[in-house]
Amino acid sequence: MPEHDVLLDVQNLTIHFKMYGGLMGNKVTGTVKAVDGVSFQVRRGETLGVVGESGCGKSTTGLGVLRMVEPTAGKVVLDGTDLTSLNQKEMRKFRRKMQMVYQDPFGALDPRMRVLDIVGEPLLIHGLHKNKGEYKARVHDLLERVGLNPNMANRYPHQFSGGQRQRIGIARALAAEPDLIICDEPVSALDVSIQAQVINLLEDLQEEFGLTYLFIAHDLAVVKHICDRIMVMYLGHVVEITTRDALYDNPQHPYTQALMSAIPIPDPDAETQRQFDGSLQGEIPSPMNPPSGCPFHTRCQYAHEACSAKKPVLMETETGHQVACHLYDPSASDVNADDVMKAPLARTG
Ligand SMILES: Nc1ncnc2c1ncn2[C@@H]1O[C@H](COP(=O)(O)OP(=O)(O)O)[C@@H](O)[C@H]1O
Ligand SMILES: [Mg+2]
Repeated sequence: MPEHDVLLDVQNLTIHFKMYGGLMGNKVTGTVKAVDGVSFQVRRGETLGVVGESGCGKSTTGLGVLRMVEPTAGKVVLDGTDLTSLNQKEMRKFRRKMQMVYQDPFGALDPRMRVLDIVGEPLLIHGLHKNKGEYKARVHDLLERVGLNPNMANRYPHQFSGGQRQRIGIARALAAEPDLIICDEPVSALDVSIQAQVINLLEDLQEEFGLTYLFIAHDLAVVKHICDRIMVMYLGHVVEITTRDALYDNPQHPYTQALMSAIPIPDPDAETQRQFDGSLQGEIPSPMNPPSGCPFHTRCQYAHEACSAKKPVLMETETGHQVACHLYDPSASDVNADDVMKAPLARTG
């Protein structure tokens, strides 16, 4: 993709947490490889979905991009600037350009602050208003923009419903006039009936303000409508990344296929015609002790010798479609991708 189209370029992002134990609590007892060499790009104005089971490193990836956790290695390039090379003071300028919307609209908002100040705080932090009157007007405008009545500005978070609180969180993120918003499971805690409203709001705001989203979700159902491209993560790795349509029509990594088959299909006839039997066997391995070779090989029904021996790298299998799987690498494999696509449906009824 042309350089100027890329807003966020993440290169080999690695975030390892050292675990401490021992009598004095100062002995390193293990390392959690939460994010282990993740690379991806997000284009201006697009929504990149990040999908994978709980614990695969989605939130840590988002926090690493914002440098709210320090990357162990790798680069995060925003609009041509390598954020990992900046000191804290330089970083503040860039922090405004990237905002986060959190999963938990209850925990994310300070219960002692009025909505006026929750939404207005970024204006203060970044000096985006001239006087008190402009501050108030700006907050009222933001509340209106996210579908809340500006008359509610003097209320406290507990006086709002879950969906309304998420709107407050979105208004706060918008206040900073960001380029990129990292939405970390923004609708997972909401009733299904409310989820679509919040997704629609995010889509409207994206269009109006030219926003770019990194949209984190733990299943493929939620990201289907909002994302342009989707990246699938497993155990701190990217296993597949491609356009939304290619991912749903032609999921290539065995793990993506398993996730696909976990999406409920309301129609029982269609249920029996599922293309993939993705029943995931076994537990997710611990990121403190990840498997050798391909991180997915312990649960993969197509795993063969090469899979435990060598870590597959992301390879382009067709234009814009990248997969990290030895099945698609003729040099590494005696099994090939055709076997995956032709695999008979094990589920019979
Ligand atoms: N501050 C931390 N210290 C130690 N381990 C952590 C920390 N934050 C996250 N982890 C671990 O890193 C892994 C990835 O976590 P996370 O990014 O929250 O996953 P996800 O958002 O995909 O559910 C998990 O095993 C989690 O327990
Ligand atoms: Mg998370």
